[in-house]
Amino acid sequence: MKKLPGAPFVARRGAELCLEGVPLDRLGADFGTPVFAYSGGAIAAALTAYQRALQGRRHLLCYAVKANSNLALLRRFATNGCGFDIVSGGELQRVLEAGATADRVVFSGVGKSRAEMVLALHSGVRCFNVESDSELSLLSDVAVAEGMTAAVSLRVNPDVDPRTHPYISTGLRGNKFGIAHDQAVATYRRAASMPGIRVAGIDCHIGSQITTIEPYLEALDRLLDLVEAVEREGIALHHLDLGGGLGIIYTDEEPPDPGVLIAAMLARIDQRGHGHREILVEPGRSLVGNAGVLVTTALVLKKGQERNFCVVDAAMNDLIRPALYDAWMAIEPCLLRSEPAATWDVVGPICESGDWLGRDRELAVREGDRLTVLSAGAYAMSMASNYNSRGRAAEVLVEGDRTTLIRRRETIDDLLAPERLG
Ligand code: LLP
Repeated sequence: MKKLPGAPFVARRGAELCLEGVPLDRLGADFGTPVFAYSGGAIAAALTAYQRALQGRRHLLCYAVKANSNLALLRRFATNGCGFDIVSGGELQRVLEAGATADRVVFSGVGKSRAEMVLALHSGVRCFNVESDSELSLLSDVAVAEGMTAAVSLRVNPDVDPRTHPYISTGLRGNKFGIAHDQAVATYRRAASMPGIRVAGIDCHIGSQITTIEPYLEALDRLLDLVEAVEREGIALHHLDLGGGLGIIYTDEEPPDPGVLIAAMLARIDQRGHGHREILVEPGRSLVGNAGVLVTTALVLKKGQERNFCVVDAAMNDLIRPALYDAWMAIEPCLLRSEPAATWDVVGPICESGDWLGRDRELAVREGDRLTVLSAGAYAMSMASNYNSRGRAAEVLVEGDRTTLIRRRETIDDLLAPERLG
């Protein structure tokens, strides 16, 4: 039997597709569909891989909240000693609500508003990852006005190709992210002279769904060159923030284990004489992506002249990755049927041709059957919308054979509440 993405936490037991000890067909029946389910065991295992590799180092593992921001998951990360990488005031309020302490939070993002800066300063976030000269000036002004000092690391753009999808590569010269490598020393000089700023470290993030170690090491070398140049100016850099970006398995990718990636980076850091620095990492997808699935129901089977459509009750508003990135995500029947498979385009009910979850899939499926999209723990629910006035799906945490509803399905009342007839 083929190994499924998410194994061993996602596995077939006979005909039944299970997440840990729970058959997903039953989960779909119990909670309704579409429904996201996450394996607590898979998340814990991914976290342990990072934590083991970082053991014995001064470090802070900052989970990138944007990958999946459900409060119950954030709570588990917080109680397991994680910090958080946030990109908005909303994410800050989420992690505080989940029990995080702000001194374990780093604030990333290319456009922070004044109000978000004030909120973050007063909450006591550990560091702002600053991405431009004008952000630096604004942050210094805001901090002075509030009678505070902002700890800062500059996010530098190393101009390295992460060899991933162009929408999710962020460390190339042509991207909107970071401060250009050859301007970074000048910006550090400015930062060190500003009244509201305290220079704390350096930061770099080159992209997402990266499946090889080489781009990381290339970026790291360029980062360390900069660290040396900045310190020659008499500006001390306390920590190195290595960003996130490690890929997961959607189909046949073979990303390195987090432990292997971190070990390779630490070895390079030591080799170059920077082993004394505190290490920050910001993984998102690799902590939750393979832990999650989306269970959906086949509503209509439509055999066409050119293509066969299996219309399911999940759509691009629930899972936009196929539509947005042409992403391939595995789709499995919850219960295997013995009859012969046909080729289907698995599509949602939304009024757009771009509303598809998978194309040309070999499936034995009948109307009413439940299907599961695998590797849907990251950038799925967190990117969901209410397009077509569809309430967002429910979310369930699976631990062993226990299921816990961690977000109820949105109702039409939830959707209408902010609106007025005028
Ligand atoms: N740190 C920063 C500054 C980031 O921008 C990101 C992701 C991360 C950390 C976490 O990266 P990860 O470990 O999750 O790769 N929606 C896209 C992915 C967008 C990633 C954005 N930044 C997708 O579905 O593939």
